[in-house]
This record gives sequence, structure tokens and C-alpha cells, in this order.
Amino acid sequence: MPSIALSNNDDLGLESDEEIALQVTETQADKVDDVLTNRLEDISEHMRHLNQLSQFMQFNEENNEHKRSEVVPSTSKGCPLTHMQRPIRLKNIEGKPEVYDKLHTQGLKNLTCSNDVCKSSIMSNYVAPLQPRKQDDVLDQAKDFMNQYFASLKKASSPRHEARWQEVQQSIEATGEYQLTEAELIFGAKLAWRNASRCIGRIQWSKLKVFDCRHVTTTKGMFEALCNHIKYGTNKGNIRSAITLFPQRTDGLHDYRIWNGELISYAGYRQSDGTVIGDPLNVEFTEVCTKLGWKGKGTQWDYLPLVVSANGEDPEFFEYPEDVILEVPLTHPNFEWFAELHLRWYALPAVSSLMFDVGGIQFTATAFSGWYMSTEIGCRNLCDTNRLNMLETIATKMQLDTRTTTTLWKDKALVEANVAVLHSFQSRNITIVDHHTASENFMKHFENESKIRNGCPADWIWIVPPLSGSITPVFHQEFTNYYLRPSFDYQHPAYKVHVWEKERGEIKPRRKFNFKQIARAVIFTSMLYARALSKRVKATILYATETGKSEQYAKQLAELMGHAFNIHIYCMSDYDISNIDHESLLLVVASTFGNGDPPENGELLSQDLYALREGADISDEKRMDAVLNKSLQLDIDDLKKSEPLRKLNFAVFALGSTNYPNFCAFGIYLDKTLGELGGKRLLQVECGDEMCGQEQKFRKWAPKVFKSACQIFDLNCSDDLSNAFHEDKLTASTVRMVPSQRAGTIDKLLSNYHNKKVQRYKMKTAPRNLTKLADVEKSTILVEIYAPGLDYEPGDHVGIFPKNSSELVNGVLKRLTGFEDADEVFQIQVMKKKRTPNGTFNCWEPHDKIPAETPRTLLTHFFDLSTPPQQDLLNLLADFCDENCDAERLQKLGTDSAAYDEWRQLHLPTLLTVLEQFRSCRPPAGLFFSNLTPLQSRFYSISSSPRKVINEIHLTVALVKYKNQRGNDRYGVCSNYLATIQVQEPLYFFVRSAPGFHLPKDSSKPMVLIGPGTGIAPFRSFWQELDVWRELKMQRSKVWLFFGCRTREMDLYAEEKRSLVREQILDRVFLALSREPEIPKTYVQHQIENEFDALYKLIVEEKGHIYVCGDVTMAEDVHQTIRNCIAAKEQKSVSEVEAFLQALRHENRYHEDVFGITLHTGETLNKSTIRRAARPLTGS
Ligand SMILES: Cc1cc2nc3c(=O)[nH]c(=O)nc-3n(C[C@H](O)[C@H](O)[C@H](O)COP(=O)(O)OP(=O)(O)OC[C@H]3O[C@@H](n4cnc5c(N)ncnc54)[C@H](O)[C@@H]3O)c2cc1C
Ligand SMILES: NC(=O)c1ccc[n+]([C@@H]2O[C@H](COP(=O)([O-])OP(=O)(O)OC[C@H]3O[C@@H](n4cnc5c(N)ncnc54)[C@H](OP(=O)(O)O)[C@@H]3O)[C@@H](O)[C@H]2O)c1
Ligand SMILES: Cc1cc2nc3c(=O)[nH]c(=O)nc-3n(C[C@H](O)[C@H](O)[C@H](O)COP(=O)(O)O)c2cc1C
Repeated sequence: MPSIALSNNDDLGLESDEEIALQVTETQADKVDDVLTNRLEDISEHMRHLNQLSQFMQFNEENNEHKRSEVVPSTSKGCPLTHMQRPIRLKNIEGKPEVYDKLHTQGLKNLTCSNDVCKSSIMSNYVAPLQPRKQDDVLDQAKDFMNQYFASLKKASSPRHEARWQEVQQSIEATGEYQLTEAELIFGAKLAWRNASRCIGRIQWSKLKVFDCRHVTTTKGMFEALCNHIKYGTNKGNIRSAITLFPQRTDGLHDYRIWNGELISYAGYRQSDGTVIGDPLNVEFTEVCTKLGWKGKGTQWDYLPLVVSANGEDPEFFEYPEDVILEVPLTHPNFEWFAELHLRWYALPAVSSLMFDVGGIQFTATAFSGWYMSTEIGCRNLCDTNRLNMLETIATKMQLDTRTTTTLWKDKALVEANVAVLHSFQSRNITIVDHHTASENFMKHFENESKIRNGCPADWIWIVPPLSGSITPVFHQEFTNYYLRPSFDYQHPAYKVHVWEKERGEIKPRRKFNFKQIARAVIFTSMLYARALSKRVKATILYATETGKSEQYAKQLAELMGHAFNIHIYCMSDYDISNIDHESLLLVVASTFGNGDPPENGELLSQDLYALREGADISDEKRMDAVLNKSLQLDIDDLKKSEPLRKLNFAVFALGSTNYPNFCAFGIYLDKTLGELGGKRLLQVECGDEMCGQEQKFRKWAPKVFKSACQIFDLNCSDDLSNAFHEDKLTASTVRMVPSQRAGTIDKLLSNYHNKKVQRYKMKTAPRNLTKLADVEKSTILVEIYAPGLDYEPGDHVGIFPKNSSELVNGVLKRLTGFEDADEVFQIQVMKKKRTPNGTFNCWEPHDKIPAETPRTLLTHFFDLSTPPQQDLLNLLADFCDENCDAERLQKLGTDSAAYDEWRQLHLPTLLTVLEQFRSCRPPAGLFFSNLTPLQSRFYSISSSPRKVINEIHLTVALVKYKNQRGNDRYGVCSNYLATIQVQEPLYFFVRSAPGFHLPKDSSKPMVLIGPGTGIAPFRSFWQELDVWRELKMQRSKVWLFFGCRTREMDLYAEEKRSLVREQILDRVFLALSREPEIPKTYVQHQIENEFDALYKLIVEEKGHIYVCGDVTMAEDVHQTIRNCIAAKEQKSVSEVEAFLQALRHENRYHEDVFGITLHTGETLNKSTIRRAARPLTGS
């Protein structure tokens, strides 16, 4: 019979006779015949396998080529079973069908058995080395892991697989390491559990929660993460499996470690008589904790503190808050006395000393928790003689005869200890599994794995429970034990191998720095030293800002430049212009306001430079003279010859918005003027568009300036620093989303995100149609907000943070990958390079701008989804298309500017329309979010007076709707959001003071208010205030209002205006109708022209105030009309009158509040009406 069986095996090409013989002798002899009989009966089954096996062998030949080197041939060192290239037959003594393990062929050489010696009962057969891996090894393992990962996705050898492997390979070749994506990490952690041959609970392997804490870089952060892990795992007793992973090993000198063997464990205090109070297992570690300064209470049940070390630094210990650990007092269902033993155990077993080894990467700090199998507590913890050793105590209480083992008192007591454990956990609804159930589950798992994975590594010695082994099914099953990666490996206890900063007591450093590491440190230190010694060149940074952005950028620039220069940073209004000819390096960051004007704090410098350029003295009066009287034509050649700033090197970063025709005019003016004064440009002026990529431009510009300045001044600038702002291009593997906690309320998050104080108020009423048009056609609405306590003045603005429509958000959400629940809170993390004296290391850090929020909230409140995406984004999207045609088209648009412009103009696409046009594009959410531009606030003039409508704020809003060239509707984000907002719905905004557009201090001065369309908005706040003045019996002035609209139906506030005239709050109201049938097209400036004689009196003779509000083109036309009318009236040249109007502005009598482009946007976008080109202020 045996020979038949053996020859059958030969036929099947299974194992050598010798191997079979070895197995036969190892098997319980009395079962051999049964087994062989079964095998004969199963001969047909074998034949069926034959086919599969030959296919499998072929597969292995093809796919495991690269692993050959790792698999030690059976003749050399290592377990002969694990190195056999053929399937191993595994028998089940209880008669279940035998299975063939083929997976072992993938095993690695980490088991230490040899042909002669089986070491499988030796506890720690592989302990991970302390040194980092060699590059070749990392490459091999990374490749193997990527193969496993993409095979699991059924995408083996796909373009995605290829691309990812290229990326990983390049990273390893360049830096010796790489980063796993979050999906890879999760896959790897689950697989490592699946591969853990000693674990009986692996049926759960796919249900593992992975806490990716690669961003955590401090011990405190580790402690917090581990507390969260314990809370999550414990789940009030309904225990869940979880793993937490901290940053991976880099050079082996900056390891992260958890020093505890388990996150939760009891201290063990050795007494002078050699006995131990507490858990003897932890005596050594308790002493370590004590040396670190921890003071245990000395009781039987003291929890050890958590000891962690980050980045190779010395450890810190942390005591758990009381509510973190769930503990179970142990009672027995039948023995009341059991409670009097005062035994207890904690609910969560969490191993924290293992290394997670995946894809060549080593995670040295991990915590892995599941739930207990009852024997772990009942047998091992309570009754092992080297642990609490309770067996005899229990037996005695049970009144068993302990004098002889033949009474089986040990067995009986052990069973009752286990009964107590199960009863105590179960009666408190705390998850625990008995060893019978666990064994049966493992058998199911084993059978499943054999079918679907062709094997399941298992260590019989560990799998068979410590109680009643042979009455559990696992006892009767043959297993093969082999080592697969990813894996959880033993590593040396941190307290034995840690290198201490200073020697402390008996704990001594064990490791030495190698030459390369020392050399790196020396180079770094000498670089710092040399830099400190070098005489620093002074660099002056000037900024002018209205809303704070330029100041913020200037400070960032100062920080960067400070690495090599002696920095002086000033707001322009604080800068003494007389210093300018001593400057050798001047960097300017300035925005543009009004309509091509400097921000208020830049005006003085603007005029000073203008004066300098003219060679004029710069006293205040003379400056006015210069502005008013001097010719604007400068002799540039003369200026160039004198070159007062010839020693100066300069660069300008101009902030602006392409919504305004005079884009970045002030910055451009500064650049031009400094150049004309003899300064040498380090770089061409850079214009950052607020509507698109301003920050990105600045981040590229600043390091370039730094580098260029270093070159000019012959300073050795380190590449590291000149790349300081130059973040590596984000990729799918350097951005990830991790589940997180909400970081605050929306108003708080918006405040941080936009660096503004954002307030949350509610809508008082639903928005009202201000026109007589049907609701569907309405073009302007009144928005009434309930805003108690809000501080503002008539003329001020609010900046409203809009929401993207839910259609847009839902549409985009559907196209993204990387999350399952759009309403789960995630933190976006970015892989950052951390510079230390020992080199540069990667670590995950929260995205510096994007808050932890749900994908839905982020898309709703934080990102601009409506502006046509830039080419950069299209390029990025091209990487995530499944269809080549989509990827190619997106690439073309992303690289070919002409094609892009044409496509953009044709579609004016929102992000959703892009994703819908390229249907196979499915970008990962984290990376996608990181590349979106912020959803900006929109300004609205306040249409109410706080003294007239108390606790409210009103807005007059024109709805922006237009069509693309294909006739598809496009909607303005904020105006349409405001039109659909519900009563009581919250909305988020800030108030922006507009001191230049407030009512005159002298209430008797005449006022001419000019505001067509929504330009009327601030005037409503004026007339409400004037009503209050009237009630207060203040001296009244003459007020004329010029309003224009398309048709009578669009006459805003018509009724209100009539009553204001009746009550003599407004003296005259003009209505210019531009599209009313049978009426000639009339604009406000036409009526101004008609009424100019009377207006001249108000403006010039009575020193009245002019207020112009609305679209920039209208403001320009009105300005020209007034200038021309005065010129005609006074018979003066246009330039003389221009100067007069400038003077009016200086006297604060000509007020403008321009909206950017709102009227006739399409036309204006292509037009460049640069009124201020002729103006001396900016001189551009
Ligand atoms: C200081 C100040 C005060 C303001 N006060 C008011 C006010 O009181 N009331 C008011 O209604 N508005 C006011 N605005 C304008 C307001 O801030 C917004 O710009 C306006 O509501 C449009 O915002 P939106 O989000 O609806 O449109 P967005 O989503 O910003 O869309 C507008 C953009 O759409 C594009 N666009 C628009 N029309 C076309 C077209 N025909 N062809 C091609 N592209 C086009 C342009 O790129 C334009 O910039 C003010 C602006 C400023 C600066
Ligand atoms: N769909 C609609 O029916 C509708 C209606 C009103 C507004 N809107 C939109 O709403 C937004 C702004 O609306 P709004 O109420 O503030 O303004 P608006 O109604 O567009 O314009 C107000 C008035 O100003 C006129 N105007 C245009 N250019 C001028 C100039 N250079 N100088 C002086 N007057 C000028 C307009 O005449 P014109 O007749 O020449 O435009 C109109 O009579 C725009 O996006 C606009 O397209 C749409
Ligand atoms: C009322 C107003 C007027 C503006 N006028 C212009 C302009 O004429 N030209 C321009 O390029 N940008 C203009 N901008 C855009 C600003 O320059 C832009 O928002 C810039 O980022 C602000 O930078 P800051 O915070 O340093 O002031 C204007 C913005 C507002 C709110």
C-alpha cells in the first residue's frame, strides 16, 4: 500500500520518496493506513489536481524568477520544507480532505531550520536586524510587493502597475527609499496579518482597521495616536481589530519605537526577597520605566506607562488617562470566592513591539490589536508559573487534592480559570473567543486559504491552544510553517538597543555612527558655521497690502532670504525713502487696488518713487505740485544717465486679479520705475493672479529670487535652501487621506484657510426679487441677513464665502477615488522632507492649508470648482485616465497653450464638465484636492445702515448667468448661491471696511451718487443713514442719485426712491434706461452730461463729494465724462483737469467703489482700458 501511494505521488510529481518518508514517520503511525486508504479513494481527486498543479508550476516558473535568489535551495541552510519548490501535501488526521500547500514556494529564508534540525519550537526564529536594508534588497522586495498588490487588484502588468513600479524604482534609486500609498499600506498590513503563521485568529484578516500615522513625528503625537487606537479597538467592549503605524525606518538611526511589548500591561516589581508584585513578565521593562522617571504605585495591578521614542530620540513615557483602558474584574459563574481573588485583566490585547515589514520598508513602531482568546488570559497570563501562577490558589479554593498530579487538579483548576475569564468578559459584553471556536474558525480559514491562495502558513505549535489541544480540530491538522512578506517580525526590545543621547545609569548606547553619517553631520555643521561667519549682505523687503496677502508673502520671503542675508522688512508706509539709494538688494511684494491703484499703505512710496523718478524734491506740498502740474512725459534717457539706484538689485512680486483690467498695475509700475531709476532686475516682475495660482507662483518665485540674489552677491547658497519653497510635485504616493477628527466649525476653518476673521450668521428672510421681472428671469435680489452685533458703516463691504452647488459637488464626488464615504472626516497629508543634521528624511505631515474635513465639505466650501481648470490640473488629471484617448487629449490640453485656450473659450468648463467630458478619469481625492485653488470670497457693498436696520445687514446682488460659446449655461458661484439660500441657513462672511467710501464727515456737503445696476447697493446704506441723520435733525445736504438699468422693470428700489424724494432725503433721482423700447439708449454719464451745469456747482463750487459705484468700465466712462465736462466748462486741457480730479481724490471728495468686471464681462475681459496709465500715482 505505501508503495502505491508513493508511486502515485511520484506520478503526480509531488515530493521525493525521501520527503514523503520523512512525513510518514512524522505522522502518527497508527493513522497511516487510514490516511493511505483515504488517499486511494481520493485518487481521482488527485488526477483533477494534476492539471491545476502543472499550470501552477508553470506560473511559478514564470512569475517567481526574481525570487529565486531569496529561496535557499533545500541543500543549504534553512527549513527543507519551506524551500521545496513543489507542493506539500498536508493531511488531516480526523479524515478531512488533504490539501496541498503551494504557497510555501514564495517563502523567504527567515526560518532557521536546516536539513538536520527543525527549530520550529524555538520562540523567536527571526529577529529583524537593526540596520536599514540594502538598496538592492529594497528594490527586490518592493517589486515583489507591487506584484502582489496589483495582482490583488487584478491589474498585474497593467499600465498603472508599470507606472507605479517605475515611480517606486526611481525613488529607491534616487533616495534609497519610497513611500507606500495609503491603499498599498492598508493592503500590506492586512496581508502581513494573513501571513502571520502563529496567529489563530486570522479569519478576520481582511477586517483590519489601519491607522496610518506616518505623519506623526513626536512622542506626544504617538501617545495620542495610540490612545485613539486603544479607544477605537476597545469600542466599549465591542472589540475591533486595528493596527497603528508610525514613520518608517530611514537610516536606522532615526527609528520610531514603542518600547512596551503590549500597549496595555501590568507592571512587575521585584522585591528584595526575589518575589514579584504584579506581572513577572514585565519586571525588566518596569525597571526601564522607573529609570525613565516613572513612579509606579507598587501594587499588583499598576498599568505600565506607554514609552515611545520618535525619530531615534530618547524616549518619553506617558500615563494613560483613566478612561482609556477597559478592565475586567474576573468572577466565576459558580464560585463566588473567585471574585475574592481580586483577579482582573484588560480587555484589549495590543502587541506593540513588532516590526511591520512590507515592500522592503520597515515600520519599527507598530501597535496591533485584536481580541483575546480566553486561554491567553486563563491559561497563560493567570496560570503560567512564570506569570501570575494562580493555579494552585484556584485549586485550593476548589478544594482539590493538589498533592498528586493524578487528581488532575491542575487541569480542573485551569479549566475553571478559563471559565471565569469567559464568563467575566461575556457577562460584560466584551468580545472574547473560546479556544474551541477559535480553532474551528481557524480551520475554516485554513481551508479557505488553501483553496483561494494555495496555502496558509501556520505554526502548529502556536496554533494549537494551550488547553485541551487534542479536542480542538487544529490539533489534527498538518500545517507547514514558512515565512512570507509582508510580515510582522520580532525585533530587539527598544530598551536594549536604543542609542541614548547621554549615558544614563546602566543603559548604555550600543550603536555607533558609521563614517558616512559622521561625515554628513560634519558637512552640515561646517556649512552653518561658515554661513554664520560670513558677513551678511543687507536685503530690504517692502510690502504694500490691502487685505494682508502681500504682507504674508513678504514675511515668508524674509524667512527664506534670512538664511543668507541680513533682512529688513517694512510696510511701504513705514519705509524711509531716503534710504533707497543705499540699498543694494530690494525685494518688493505689492498688490493693486481700486482700479490700478496702490493699496493705501503703498501710496506714499508710489508718490515718492514718482517724485524721485522726476528728480523732484519730495516734501508733501511739492509732491502735490508735481502731481498736479508737471508734465507726465519724463526724459527717460536723462534719468537713465543719472541712475540714482544703480547700486540696487531688485525684484518685484505683484499681486492682483485678472478680474480687473489694470492687472497688477501697481507692482508693474514699481518694477518699471525701479528699473528706470537704474536698479538691476534679479528677475522679471512676477504677477500673481488671485483668481488663479497666485500662491503657487509666489512659491516658485521666492526661491528663484533667493538663488539669483545669492549668485549676484557671490554667496554659496545650498540647493536645499534655494529649493525651500519648491515643493516636489505632489504625486499619488506623496499625498494621502487619513480618517481624522473634524478640526473645527466651518467659520473657524474658513478663518484659518483664508487668514480672515470669518463670522457665521443666518439668513433672515428668503432673498427677494428686486425687479418686476418674473422670478425665473430675475436679475437682482435683496439679501437680508440676521447679524446681531455686527460692526460696520454705510459704504463698507462684506466678503461672502459662497458654497458650491450640491449638483456640482455631488457630480465631482462621484468621479473621485480614495474614499468610500464622502461624509467621513479625513485629513490630507503630504509627504515632506525633513532636514536634520544627519540628512533628509521623509515624513507625513498634515497639508499646511487644507483642513481636516469631509470630502463633501471640502468641495462645498473650500475649493473653486467653477473656474475653468488650469493646464497644470489637466496634466495631473491625464495621469488618472483608464482610457488612453482621454489621457492623450488631457495631456494635449495640458501642454499645448493654443489648444487649451480654444477649448477653454469654447466650453468655459467647470471642473465637473471636465470630469464628465473625460469619463475615464478617476483621480485620487487627496491629490486632486491638493491641486485645487481655493474658493474665494466675493465682495458685496452693504445696502443697509446699522442704525436703521438694527441687527441686520442687507445686500443688493446681481445674479451672474452667462453662456459659453456652445450655448451652455454658466452660473456665477456666489450670486447664485445667495439667490437660493434658505431662511435661517447659515452663511459665512467678514466685513471689510471701506473708509474711502464713507459718507462725508460734514453732513452739509452735497453728494452726487452715481451707481447704475448693482452700483446702487452702497447708496441704499447711505440713504438709510441719511434718514437716521434726518431723525437726529442733523444738518442736511443736497443729494443727487444717478441710477441706470436696462428697462423700467429693472429699476431697483423704485418705490423706496420715490418715498425718499418725497421725504427730501434725496433731492433728485435720475434714471438712465439703456434697453427700454422706444427710448434712446441712455447711460448715467449721458445724464451727468445733460445736468452738468448744476452738477458743476455742487461739485466745484460747493465742494461736494462724488461717489461712483459699480463696474470698472462704467466708472472709467463716468470719470472721463466728468473730466471732459469740467474741461469744457473751464476751458482747460484734459491733463489739467485730470490733475484736478486727482486733487479731488486726495481731498477725499472723489470716491470710487469698483466691482471689478461685472457688467458686460465678456467684452471687458478682452478689453484693456487702462485709465490709470496716464495717472502719475502708479504711472504705469
Ligand atoms: C468691492 C466690491 C463690491 C461689490 N459689490 C457688489 C454688490 O453690491 N452687488 C453685486 O451684485 N456684486 C458686487 N460685487 C461683485 C461681486 O463681488 C461678484 O464679483 C459677483 O457677484 C459675481 O460673483 P459670482 O460668484 O456670482 O460669480 P463668479 O463665479 O465669480 O463668476 C464671475 C466670473 O464669471 C466669468 N464671467 C461672467 N460673465 C461672463 C461672460 N459673459 N462671459 C465669460 N465669462 C463670464 C468671469 O470670469 C467672471 O469673473 C462687488 C465686487 C467688489 C470687488
Ligand atoms: N440676464 C439679464 O437679463 C440680466 C439683466 C441685468 C443684469 N444681468 C447681469 O447681472 C450682472 C450685473 O448686473 P447689474 O444690474 O449690476 O448691471 P446691468 O443691469 O448689466 O447694467 C446696469 C446698467 O448699466 C449700463 N451700462 C453698461 N455699461 C455701461 C457703461 N460703460 N457705462 C454706464 N452704464 C453702463 C447697462 O446698459 P446695457 O443695456 O448696455 O447693458 C445697464 O443699463 C451682469 O452679469 C449682467 O450681465 C443680467
Ligand atoms: C476692490 C478691489 C479692487 C481691486 N483692484 C484691482 C486692480 O485694479 N488690479 C488688480 O490686478 N487687482 C485688483 N484687485 C485684486 C487684489 O490686488 C488682490 O485681491 C490681491 O491678492 C490682494 O492682495 P493684498 O491682500 O496684499 O492686498 C482688487 C481687489 C479688490 C477687492
